[in-house]
Amino acid sequence: MAEHYSVLLQESLEYLAIKPEGFYLDCTAGMGGHSKAIAERLTPAGRLVVNDRDSESLEMAKRTLMDFVDRAEFQCAPFSMLNESGLDGLLADLGTSRFQLTDPDRGFSLLQDGPLDMRMDQTRGMTAADLVNHSAETAIADWIFQYGQERRNARKIARAIYAARPLRSTLHLAGVVEGVVPRVGPIHPATRTFQALRIVVNEEMKELDALLNRAPRMVAPGGRIVMISFHSLEDVRVKDKFRDLQRAGIARILTKKPVVPGDKELRENAASRSAKLRAVEILKSAA
Ligand SMILES: C[S@@+](CC[C@H](N)C(=O)[O-])C[C@H]1O[C@@H](n2cnc3c(N)ncnc32)[C@H](O)[C@@H]1O
Repeated sequence: MAEHYSVLLQESLEYLAIKPEGFYLDCTAGMGGHSKAIAERLTPAGRLVVNDRDSESLEMAKRTLMDFVDRAEFQCAPFSMLNESGLDGLLADLGTSRFQLTDPDRGFSLLQDGPLDMRMDQTRGMTAADLVNHSAETAIADWIFQYGQERRNARKIARAIYAARPLRSTLHLAGVVEGVVPRVGPIHPATRTFQALRIVVNEEMKELDALLNRAPRMVAPGGRIVMISFHSLEDVRVKDKFRDLQRAGIARILTKKPVVPGDKELRENAASRSAKLRAVEILKSAA
């Protein structure tokens, strides 16, 4: 199993301001790192819902939390189906886990070969292969432009994908992109294309919007919402929603600027480099 490293862990705990007997929801359990740290700060009278839409990740989180079953319960649901209420705190550490990214069978990896899947919930929905092999070239270009934030090369990449169909595996796709976008620096030229497809496959923006709409209703007055995002498309949504909640008097922003990893975390975990944490305290029910 890949080494486990939970991003902005201390900062998440600080902004959640955990009450030992409180009720918490970790929307994105992943390998259970944040959940375990929350559970450790609860007494058995506290309660933690450990949630992930990916059942394999949830199994891993269960193992991480096996000493805390007196206070933790496990739930496999997408953000759009969450309906807890009266929470003292809600955490969402968005995106994909290291486990998902490094297991070639899940199809997120552009370094190891695997099926072009990329679904977090493997029981439903279209795979990345369905998308690249059956969508219009213009749709593929738009996704890469919008969700991959690949401003210059989107059309060129979409054309190459279209010409290479059927795309059979992650390395096949990575190679096709590398064939038209030369490698500059350490980041693989297909990284943005993979990000775009992953976002579309998992409807990540729609899911995030659903969570941002539900969260203020799920958290009780005095409770906290903490969100960690990994690219500007996510961060802008979180920032705008928090600002709207503050303007409406529903929440108070606790992080004027996003909290980012310190030098030590960046040295130990390069994958944390784009993480941004924002937090609010709920002042009154958003009903
Ligand atoms: C960055 S990882 C979380 C890592 C975790 N905090 C840890 O310490 O191991 C993000 C997790 O969120 C899950 N996830 C992403 N979008 C989701 C959604 N819409 N609904 C539920 N879970 C989601 C992914 O399956 C993934 O396991």
